[in-house]
Amino acid sequence: MSILQARAITKQFGGLLALSAVELTIAAGEFVAVIGPNGAGKSTLLNILTGLLMPDGGQVLFDGKDITRLATHKRVRSGLGRTFQHGRTFARLTVLENVMIGAAIRGDRTERAIRDAALAVLDQMGLAAEANESIGSLSYGRRRMVELCRALACEPRVLLLDEPAAGLNSGEVDQLVDRLTELRARQQLTIVLIEHNMGMVMRLAERIAVLNFGRKIADGPPAQVQADPAVLSAYLGHGYNRASV
Ligand SMILES: Nc1ncnc2c1ncn2[C@@H]1O[C@H](COP(=O)(O)OP(=O)(O)OP(=O)(O)O)[C@@H](O)[C@H]1O
Ligand SMILES: [Mg+2]
Repeated sequence: MSILQARAITKQFGGLLALSAVELTIAAGEFVAVIGPNGAGKSTLLNILTGLLMPDGGQVLFDGKDITRLATHKRVRSGLGRTFQHGRTFARLTVLENVMIGAAIRGDRTERAIRDAALAVLDQMGLAAEANESIGSLSYGRRRMVELCRALACEPRVLLLDEPAAGLNSGEVDQLVDRLTELRARQQLTIVLIEHNMGMVMRLAERIAVLNFGRKIADGPPAQVQADPAVLSAYLGHGYNRASV
């Protein structure tokens, strides 16, 4: 059964049709990448799945339940975790405090339990040594890793990542790939990854969905999608070269 499903999602911004009848079905435990040229509608779709935006048409189902109108924090509590395309950390807080915000969102824990849960995630993700540093003292790549820790501290069943590799150097991308691989193996986490870094997508995704101008133009195994003429021409039209797709 699917754990997360977008059904005929449509979203308009003024005169711009950002998403047009987009269908996306994610099975429990699956690793799905959503790719597409700039402005294709990827972040808009993720924002609708997580409740930051309401669609103009269509439904979002989580565990078979219609959550289209459910508030974001309720979605998080029921197991939808996310990170943002444009990093969001709290500059005046420590690394640990930033992650505690994620651990606190479930609402039923003591401060001690929240702290312990946040520390466990930092430890698992290789950030324990930086727990008490101010987030501002970390490199950009480490800050993005803290955001991932914060999302994990919400104990998601489905983790949605919006361009987590943007701005990372190649060593940091390798580390991120390793961490995501471990997470899946250890926790059977379902992951939806929006990413322009095709090397990373090809290393991780079991399936790739491609958006272009708000429409889904391909959805299938990586090798099939990579060779799909419609996908190649969508990228070529945006000035990408074949090697980068
Ligand atoms: N809040 C908004 N108001 C108006 N237009 C918006 C808004 N958010 C997105 N758009 C437009 O909707 C389209 C889809 O944007 P979206 O951010 O979903 O694309 P994307 O695929 O995530 O692109 P990128 O790869 O650059 O992040 C774009 O044309 C964008 O300019
Ligand atoms: Mg985006």
